[in-house]
Amino acid sequence: MIVGSNGMLGQRLTNFFSALHDVELLCTSVEGSSFVENVDYRQIDITQKTKVREVVLDFFPDYIINTAAYTNVDKSETEREAAWKINVNGVENIALYAWTVDAHLIHMSTDYIFDGKNGPYTEDDKPCPLGYYGRTKLASENSIRTSGVRFTIIRTNVLYGPAQFGRPDFVKWVVNSLSGKKEINIVTDQINNPTYVDDIVSAINKIISFKKEGIYNIGGEEILSRYEFTKRIAKYFNLDGSLIKPVVTKDLNQAALRPLKSGLITLKAQTELGFKATPIDISFGLMRKELNL
Ligand SMILES: NC(=O)c1ccc[n+]([C@@H]2O[C@H](COP(=O)([O-])OP(=O)(O)OC[C@H]3O[C@@H](n4cnc5c(N)ncnc54)[C@H](OP(=O)(O)O)[C@@H]3O)[C@@H](O)[C@H]2O)c1
Repeated sequence: MIVGSNGMLGQRLTNFFSALHDVELLCTSVEGSSFVENVDYRQIDITQKTKVREVVLDFFPDYIINTAAYTNVDKSETEREAAWKINVNGVENIALYAWTVDAHLIHMSTDYIFDGKNGPYTEDDKPCPLGYYGRTKLASENSIRTSGVRFTIIRTNVLYGPAQFGRPDFVKWVVNSLSGKKEINIVTDQINNPTYVDDIVSAINKIISFKKEGIYNIGGEEILSRYEFTKRIAKYFNLDGSLIKPVVTKDLNQAALRPLKSGLITLKAQTELGFKATPIDISFGLMRKELNL
């Protein structure tokens, strides 16, 4: 059972698992219908406990993959109640009914649980979120850990990839902006390892195959600044890199603080899951093919 199946990661999970013949799949998200067609779908708002109960007890899944979240980092600062309700109370509802049916819960978390003073981070580093979004995501991790459910938490950072529906991902946004000769301001001081969305799909598939529990970092092969990443996009897609203007985070006056020196070390996933991140240029090639970029 996928929760948040209409989101960026949720769509890719839906594409992957719906193509497998030995999987009985139920997709759920907050919208009235599934963005990906021809899948079994139920509408769930995860903050509605009785609805979560109804659908989980009806479908009785072996695995629940939760990708649903309140993901707007800046709005989380002012819309605190909404962010907490979805990211913490919603996750508690899922954990409770996953526990009830003895399903294994696979849940998505983030590097924003760290303060970005000393990254990249391992699974054992001490969280210290800077913003409210990070606080809700850390609280959801802690709720899961104390709920008694069998769980795997995947921490990731800066997802990109060829999701067909919804807002464009960072790569597509850069390609669209530079193709339209638009100047873009990109930060030089946010450092992390951008993650190709299908690498998370394959990590989740391995977690299920190997029945792995605990916390796993999943991230890209290279740790680089957002500015360097954007330059790589321009180079690969033969676009005018001079339109990319370097700025620093504090110039943007964003509502939420960002972890600056961040990134996730994936050694545990490499050794225990055989995880191997897709190299950046290969991932761009896959996106070009799928999205006709
Ligand atoms: N994207 C990143 O760079 C990134 C980095 C680190 C970690 N993560 C984590 O990875 C996970 C997936 O991220 P993503 O980029 O795929 O996010 P996304 O595209 O924003 O998808 C989240 C989905 O959850 C849905 N949702 C929101 N509130 C809901 C509710 N009450 N009940 C049910 N569904 C609800 C959203 O619907 P609406 O769109 O209609 O609100 C959306 O379809 C999240 O847990 C996120 O925190 C993401």
